[in-house]
Amino acid sequence: MSYPTVLSLFFFSLVLGDTTPSTPNDYDVMQYVDPLIGSSNGGNVFAGASLPYGMAKAVADTDSVSNQGGFAYDGSNITGFSSLHDSGTGGQPSLGNFPLFPYVRCQNDEVNGCVYPKKERRTRYDSGSVIASPGYFALTMSSGIRVEMTVSHHTSLFRFQFPADSESRPLILLDLSDLSDTRQDNGTVSVNAETGRIVGHARFLPSFGSGSYTPYVCVDFRSASGIRDNGIFVNSRASTNVKDLTLPRSINGYPLPGGAFVRFQKPSDGTVLARVGLSFINSEQACSNAEREIPDFDFDVTHATAVNRWKEKLAPIQVSREGVNSSFLRTFYSGIYRTMINPQDYTGENPLWQSFEPYFDSFYCLWDSFRSQLPFLTIFDPSALARMIRSLIDTQRHLGWLPDCRMSLCKGFTQGGSNADVVLADAYIKNITEGIDWQAGYSAVRKDAEEEPYAWSNEGRGGLDSWKSLNYIPVEDFDYKGTGTMTRSISRTLEYAYDDFTIAQMARGLGEKGDVERYETSSTFWQNLFREDQTSFINGTDTGFVGFFQPKHLNGTWGYQDPNTCSNIDRSGRACSLQNNAAETFESSIWEYQFFVPHDMNALISRLGGPAEFVRRLDYLHDTGITYIGNEPSFLTVFQYHYAGRPGKSTARAHSYIPQYFNPNPAGLPGNDDSGAMGSFVAMTMMGLFPNPGQNVYLISAPFFESVRITSPLTGRSATIRAVNFDPEYRNIYIQSATLDGRPYTRNWIGHDFFTEGRELVLVLGRNESQWGTHERDVPPSLSKRRAHFSRPRPE
Ligand SMILES: *[C@@H]1O[C@H](CO)[C@@H](O)[C@H](O)[C@H]1NC(C)=O
Ligand SMILES: *[C@@H]1O[C@H](CO)[C@@H](O)[C@H](O)[C@H]1NC(C)=O
Ligand SMILES: *[C@@H]1O[C@H](CO)[C@@H](O)[C@H](O)[C@H]1NC(C)=O
Ligand SMILES: *[C@@H]1O[C@H](CO)[C@@H](O)[C@H](O)[C@H]1NC(C)=O
Ligand SMILES: *[C@@H]1O[C@H](CO)[C@@H](O)[C@H](O)[C@H]1NC(C)=O
Ligand SMILES: *[C@@H]1O[C@H](CO)[C@@H](O)[C@H](O)[C@H]1NC(C)=O
Ligand SMILES: *[C@@H]1O[C@H](CO)[C@@H](O)[C@H](O)[C@H]1NC(C)=O
Repeated sequence: MSYPTVLSLFFFSLVLGDTTPSTPNDYDVMQYVDPLIGSSNGGNVFAGASLPYGMAKAVADTDSVSNQGGFAYDGSNITGFSSLHDSGTGGQPSLGNFPLFPYVRCQNDEVNGCVYPKKERRTRYDSGSVIASPGYFALTMSSGIRVEMTVSHHTSLFRFQFPADSESRPLILLDLSDLSDTRQDNGTVSVNAETGRIVGHARFLPSFGSGSYTPYVCVDFRSASGIRDNGIFVNSRASTNVKDLTLPRSINGYPLPGGAFVRFQKPSDGTVLARVGLSFINSEQACSNAEREIPDFDFDVTHATAVNRWKEKLAPIQVSREGVNSSFLRTFYSGIYRTMINPQDYTGENPLWQSFEPYFDSFYCLWDSFRSQLPFLTIFDPSALARMIRSLIDTQRHLGWLPDCRMSLCKGFTQGGSNADVVLADAYIKNITEGIDWQAGYSAVRKDAEEEPYAWSNEGRGGLDSWKSLNYIPVEDFDYKGTGTMTRSISRTLEYAYDDFTIAQMARGLGEKGDVERYETSSTFWQNLFREDQTSFINGTDTGFVGFFQPKHLNGTWGYQDPNTCSNIDRSGRACSLQNNAAETFESSIWEYQFFVPHDMNALISRLGGPAEFVRRLDYLHDTGITYIGNEPSFLTVFQYHYAGRPGKSTARAHSYIPQYFNPNPAGLPGNDDSGAMGSFVAMTMMGLFPNPGQNVYLISAPFFESVRITSPLTGRSATIRAVNFDPEYRNIYIQSATLDGRPYTRNWIGHDFFTEGRELVLVLGRNESQWGTHERDVPPSLSKRRAHFSRPRPE
């Protein structure tokens, strides 16, 4: 990737004559990255070794009910060590194909004296032995085997250290299984009698999507004393006489255990290395990836290279440590780290079409990552983001539609609207240009708005006829053009409206004048589901608030959904996911969704009774726990006080959630990380600038640090936020006044040029809310305030 190194950034700064002094307290931020944060309590993060956006992701897999990311740090048992994973997802575990599993020796030194099937071989590990850092993961199994792992982009390298004091005759098996046991027909595996090289492949099912995928693996071993023998296993029996195996689909619905193994002479240094090459093209490519990337099986060099890749990625941001409890630094830098685990760069590994464009996978899902993760990358890794955007556009070119969710080379399920529209618009208005065909990008988002796909459960939008004729998505829609889950009529209406607004912004930039009006008009359709006289009772008590979104039938009469249904305090405990207790709102309540009008907060605030009433309602949402900070729809609600002229309340809310719900422990996330969504939420909240995604707007809050310096990888310029009167006890969290590049600044928001131009924002903090940022002219733009404009605001 064309990413400038720290040195060239420095050089670049000199060339541009950037005069920003370097932060005096430069330090290695890597010490604050803890990949184990979110590895228990449902965070579901991938805690293992990966490069930024790497395809190879090595970790110990467990049999936990929360093993979506492979390893769950919750006392569950180890079932193997596999090399493909996703991070932070809910639902079924993803990937986890082809685990290795080592034995010190088999009973009686017989191959049948080892235990092969996953369900039976599972074993404990020493909980205090776990070490995780960027590009590295290790633990010690109860058998005494220390297992360390590191990675290159498509290859994992495992180092098995067998206990010294035993009569070790190691056996390592490779199992043709995955975490969710979805193997389909005709998996094959072969072991080379002389070299012990194992190649294999099988077809598996994606965890939240349609279709199937076929990964290929190529394993080579290194051991000082050499190989003893090898063979294959089926179910619980093994033989050294057979070297090739083809497996049927399943026995009674469970894939028949099978794979290959290699036995080793007692290694003189106690060590066996296993290099696992991966590909989605074929076995030859799996082998050549491994040979090219890790030719010498050099663990330390591979590890050091991975560490350097992470150092480069984390270089653009540095905060002052002055007075700050290191737990905040760990939450912050670990959050940033997790924004670059997924999506995964599968360029050159896409078997589905031929193209010179990059190919990224594991956009899992855009409904999660459009809110702050991908906006975060517009600032910190614009080159990688540009490649992701090109991949999204190329996917549309070849498969017809922009993905809404994508994993394991398959189409995932759509959750809300066509969220890729927001992702593309966000990158477009932030001037991410590198190699992107924006005309093609515009055609792709326009297609989402205009054409209904046959299977809108996987892409695009459903109900477009109703959308265009009735101007809302009706409950129990009549839709003969495509199929999808006929629910979520309220959340889909709200999301389609916002998606259209973001399309309108792209249309303006690209000079598509007719489309600007067309999509700005449809972006007001959220109003059609607002029922003026709707009340809300919770626990049988009137909340006193009147006016909520409600479902509406095809014939124009109102339906009904309790505004509290699907909320965090809904006593029915409904999940309101796609299949589970589906409702007219997705994974969230009308109470929370009522705030989702990101482009016209002005109109929404009027609807809800003006700024003071709006603030009272937003307070109620948070104070009663209706909102759930562990799921993404809550993110923007933390900061929407800004639109009512109360930016200080946003900061106070941020502090009510961090550190209480986000702390640097394995159980330190309030919900699924969702591919880094939670990571980006803490990172952007703590740096004091939170995006309204799809708009050139960052909402200004007091940062959790005395200063924050962000160097734009695009321009090499450094932007700085400084907090005067900073107080590490976080009593002075209210902005009293501000200057931008030395001039008074009263707006409570700022545009993306803050980063690319390397501006300096100085915030003077105090104990109480002030007048700063509270006037009508200070709040961010809204569609219905015509003085507002959404393209490239300049500083005052
Ligand atoms: C782990 O596996 C052992 C057998 O090796 C079993 O006795 C134990 O109950 C398992 N622990 C858990 C948490 O499943
Ligand atoms: C699986 O293998 C069998 C035996 O080689 C073959 O008859 C069958 O067509 C294969 N199935 C698929 C889906 O490739
Ligand atoms: C830092 O924060 C942690 C977690 O809240 C707390 O246990 C610890 O005492 C704090 N350390 C200091 C020096 O305040
Ligand atoms: C947008 O980016 C391009 C290429 O990086 C640059 O030449 C141009 O000046 C930028 N435009 C604005 C308005 O920032
Ligand atoms: C509803 O009742 C529960 C249980 O009594 C209580 O904990 C909760 O605070 C109540 N919520 C509201 C919004 O009244
Ligand atoms: C409108 O449609 C709903 C749902 O089918 C039905 O219950 C209601 O009676 C209809 N109202 C009118 C006035 O037709
Ligand atoms: C902050 O407000 C409180 C009342 O809410 C007041 O007692 C206090 O004096 C104020 N502090 C300052 C520094 O203005």
